[in-house]
Amino acid sequence: MSTHIAAEPGQIAPIVLFPGDPLRAKWIAETFLEDAELYSETRGMLGYTGTWEGHRVSVQGSGMGQPSMAIYANELFEEYDVQTIVRVGSCGALTENLKVRDIIIANGACTDSGINRVRFHGLDYAPVADFGLLRAAVEASEAEPLDSAVHVGLLFSSDQFYSTRPELTEPFVKHGVLGVEMEAAGLYTLAAYYERRALAICTVSDHIVTGEETTAQEREQTFGDMIRIALRAATS
Ligand code: ADE
Repeated sequence: MSTHIAAEPGQIAPIVLFPGDPLRAKWIAETFLEDAELYSETRGMLGYTGTWEGHRVSVQGSGMGQPSMAIYANELFEEYDVQTIVRVGSCGALTENLKVRDIIIANGACTDSGINRVRFHGLDYAPVADFGLLRAAVEASEAEPLDSAVHVGLLFSSDQFYSTRPELTEPFVKHGVLGVEMEAAGLYTLAAYYERRALAICTVSDHIVTGEETTAQEREQTFGDMIRIALRAATS
């Protein structure tokens, strides 16, 4: 039984969907999974296991930011032998080429986090998605009838939601980064370390350039598209 998830061995499926918000985990389990059972509510970070189209799938809240996410990802990989994690989250758009409600499938993630700086002794590591999962997610997005445009590109995993120096993202934007969130780089790094598969898919919830935001109802609809892409890719 792990320190933070505290589930019994075998209660967590080899495939995990990984939203930041634990209540989003509950919504995903209730909306998409059959026979979903709660396996953890330690610290309110809800985790459920059920089935989707005959595949055993878990949904685990990660919390916000790489330190919180890494606690749960480490335990999922190390103690529950999870093979595949798909982050399903939200992000801010950094370029006018994106609109709110668009979906980003992240092929890689930059970061300002000190975690990887310590891990790699000050050298720059390039955290990337599992290629098979990435390809499966793109194929799933082409097969599903979607309301939102889907983009494949880079995310910036920031340690700060309320940045004191937003101008620091300008070079990232000039080098093709599409959106800002707070977890993908850490997840990709841990998946590489444990030799497992990871992918981050994010829905644009707010626009850093235009100031536009999504309504709760819009977020739910677009979130549904993203979850279907994630489930199809993770189980293919
Ligand atoms: N997640 C959603 N929107 C975000 C933003 N603007 N910055 C960081 N993480 C986010």
